[in-house]
Amino acid sequence: MMKAVVAHEYGAPDVLKFEEVPRPEPQDDEALVRIIASSVNPADPLTLSGKYAKEFGTHLPLIPGYDIAGIVEKTGANITKLKAGDAVYGYPTFGGGWAQYVTVKEWEVAAKPKSLNFVEAAAVPMGALTAWQSLADVAKLQPGQTILIHGGSGGVGSFAIQIAKARGAHVIATASTANQDLLKQLGTDVAVDYTKTKFEDVAKNVDAVLDPVGKETLARSYGVVKKGGIVMCLVALPDRAELQKRGIHGAAISAHPDAADLTQIAHLIDAGKIKPIVTQVLPLGEAIAAQQQAATHHTRGKIVLRIADEPKA
Ligand SMILES: NC(=O)c1ccc[n+]([C@@H]2O[C@H](COP(=O)([O-])OP(=O)(O)OC[C@H]3O[C@@H](n4cnc5c(N)ncnc54)[C@H](OP(=O)(O)O)[C@@H]3O)[C@@H](O)[C@H]2O)c1
Repeated sequence: MMKAVVAHEYGAPDVLKFEEVPRPEPQDDEALVRIIASSVNPADPLTLSGKYAKEFGTHLPLIPGYDIAGIVEKTGANITKLKAGDAVYGYPTFGGGWAQYVTVKEWEVAAKPKSLNFVEAAAVPMGALTAWQSLADVAKLQPGQTILIHGGSGGVGSFAIQIAKARGAHVIATASTANQDLLKQLGTDVAVDYTKTKFEDVAKNVDAVLDPVGKETLARSYGVVKKGGIVMCLVALPDRAELQKRGIHGAAISAHPDAADLTQIAHLIDAGKIKPIVTQVLPLGEAIAAQQQAATHHTRGKIVLRIADEPKA
């Protein structure tokens, strides 16, 4: 048996129960990971609401948690790269991270960055993969290009700023007054307080926009992109009419687990180019409060759930 945070019905965070459930057994193409830490994403309350049941095939009972850092406990017969005792971090496609154990496919995890402890490593996967896949794979951001990153203080934005700087780009990023210091600390060239300044007054003719906010912020973003540039939307579909009118590209991002991407991100972390911002560490039993915070869309950096003590080196 194992301790886990479980939903037996879809709904608000208070449907979650902290209880004992059977420990999963790995199939031939899976590894069992003993989780040391997990973290919290805005996708957790969305999954819990039932929104992804049709879209991605999530089903009840469900254990939330798309980010994990832990140690491989045992491996299925067809696993070739992972072995018991490996320290890994990753993104199980269907969640399950808010528990003492989870089964993963080999392509969902990679070696944990050596320079991070498990709590720090658990803050990385979904946010950093989303930022990496947007900036490197979709925008193919080049040195000298300019990117506008909305929500630069959040789970995705905080990695996007650092990845953009690591790729030699010029970064304009937005957040509220309380998070202007964090934007600067992450390397932002021009920090915009969206509560005081219209970003359009500062960002003009940019090569790319990363938008995790949507609605009015997205609607106003098309006008700041130069011809041939791109708007990457995390929470909406791009407006085709706006793209055509302005001669720009649009992409709806759908981040996915990818061991090769996680390995590249780990290299950047160990090279000191990017780091996770962990603002709160809570015990697993406080997952409801953590999920309520995630639903506000005003989290600074990441909230991590500690599940077990850091193993002795
Ligand atoms: N499509 C995908 O594959 C994918 C992947 C990951 C995440 N997402 C989505 O992307 C969104 C962001 O994720 P996240 O993990 O970064 O969320 P988060 O950690 O909650 O961060 C959101 C950030 O946005 C800032 N913000 C809120 N309103 C803003 C506004 N009007 N203008 C500029 N910044 C604003 C907040 O800063 P202040 O508190 O300073 O306002 C906060 O730091 C979520 O809706 C999530 O579901 C999508």
